[in-house]
Amino acid sequence: MFKGKFITIEGSEGAGKSTNIGFIQDYLNQKNIPFILTREPGGTPVAEKIRDLLLDKANTSLCDDAELLLMFAARSQHLNELIIPALEAGKWVISDRFTDASYAYQGGGRGLSWQKIAQLEQWVQGNLRPDATILLDIPVDKGMERVRERGETDRFEQEQLSFFNRIREAYLKLAEENPERFHIVDTLPAIEKVHKQLERVMDHLSS
Ligand code: TMP
Repeated sequence: MFKGKFITIEGSEGAGKSTNIGFIQDYLNQKNIPFILTREPGGTPVAEKIRDLLLDKANTSLCDDAELLLMFAARSQHLNELIIPALEAGKWVISDRFTDASYAYQGGGRGLSWQKIAQLEQWVQGNLRPDATILLDIPVDKGMERVRERGETDRFEQEQLSFFNRIREAYLKLAEENPERFHIVDTLPAIEKVHKQLERVMDHLSS
């Protein structure tokens, strides 16, 4: 057991991760809770190089198994170099995505077996799981509108609508199966309302 909490932020494309992570950062700073903010794939120099490979649109031939294995290779590096030491030092770790994204994207989106992903999860993480996961949820068409407004897309964002529908379904299924860990925040309403929902979740986690 660590003193710090391990919180992961998940959501399908355009769910508003950046803005809402900003709100979480402000919340933790106000409460004087020591934390690090990191992301997946990435978070360390080696894992960021793997991220570049994974998001590069030029890598059209990357097969689904290689994609999954690269996600877990990056995760292994991230855990050992950054996440575990921070938790051991008593800090909270806020990660913009973690293993639920592998279930949602590689499992739901690409159709890889959940059993394969569970095996890698056990290998790379042992018993380490997030203390809480905030799922920022938005209907797929609305999320994709936001992605299009941002302009430039990466290798994942170029996929078809059906891919993102399967991802959202997988996230909601994960939330249903892990109700004690997941907190779903609906990001469709006005930003103030979304922040109120987030504040309630953060109050609960820091109490
Ligand atoms: P993001 O920083 O915009 O969230 O980009 C990361 C992309 O990588 C996003 O499209 C989701 C994807 N991803 C996976 O497919 N599997 C994973 O395990 C993780 C962590 C991310």
